[in-house]
Amino acid sequence: MKKQIAIEVKNLFFKYDKEYILEDINLKIYENEYIAIIGPNGGGKTTFLKLLLGLLTPTKGSIKVYDKPPSRYKTSIGYLPQRVNFNLDMPISVKDIVLQGRLNSKKLFYEKEDYKKCDQILEKLDLKDLKERKISQLSGGQRQKILLARALVSEPKILILDEPTASIDIKGQKEIYKILKELELTKIVVSHDIKILFEGIDRVAYINRKLFMHENPNFGLKPAEGHFCEMELFDYLRKNSDV
Ligand SMILES: Nc1ncnc2c1ncn2[C@@H]1O[C@H](COP(=O)(O)OP(=O)(O)OP(=O)(O)O)[C@@H](O)[C@H]1O
Ligand SMILES: [Mg+2]
Repeated sequence: MKKQIAIEVKNLFFKYDKEYILEDINLKIYENEYIAIIGPNGGGKTTFLKLLLGLLTPTKGSIKVYDKPPSRYKTSIGYLPQRVNFNLDMPISVKDIVLQGRLNSKKLFYEKEDYKKCDQILEKLDLKDLKERKISQLSGGQRQKILLARALVSEPKILILDEPTASIDIKGQKEIYKILKELELTKIVVSHDIKILFEGIDRVAYINRKLFMHENPNFGLKPAEGHFCEMELFDYLRKNSDV
């Protein structure tokens, strides 16, 4: 059976001001693929994700999500942004945060089904005990998992995560990678943590103004032997890309 294309990017160029941040990007992401995106600071990763989400518009070229422009597909994409500024003085609970993921421009009030889905996802991510906790009473890792729950509660077909394991300890990282591995949907995860290459991803994209795609991301290495440094890996991916 032919694999269905979830996202198709053609000749994409993007600039905020004068200088191009992304240049001539071409990419197909297939349904249920798990893609990691790595690259240096300022390379354009977050910008690329925002374009996929329809939060930014291409300067040139096109992006299609299931054959539609991303802005018309927004509600079916789960997103965990790189930086979320919680106002910790607000007495907002875990449940409130997760439920936000059920709202969109057409739906402004919760229904019974929303509470049900919220409970289901908290159960699935083993967060049930935290449901009534205030966000100010959570650890960084717990907060990150709650944000993942918020991204998943709308049952999206595509999940886009920007640095989901940043500032989380090794145990927490492993937990998040395990959850991600088991989720069956199209996943695109930006990470500075190259351990992600050993966590069941299908392909890795290196983004630094241009995009370089690679099929066999862990090069047959096991994590214990993986003493390559990030710069060597970046260099390798740039020189040996499949596109
Ligand atoms: N709103 C903006 N206006 C102007 N320039 C911006 C804006 N947002 C980002 N940039 C610039 O675009 C470039 C790419 O930024 P982006 O945030 O996409 O990088 P990144 O790969 O996600 O980096 P990091 O690994 O640090 O998160 C940077 O040079 C940044 O300064
Ligand atoms: Mg970023």
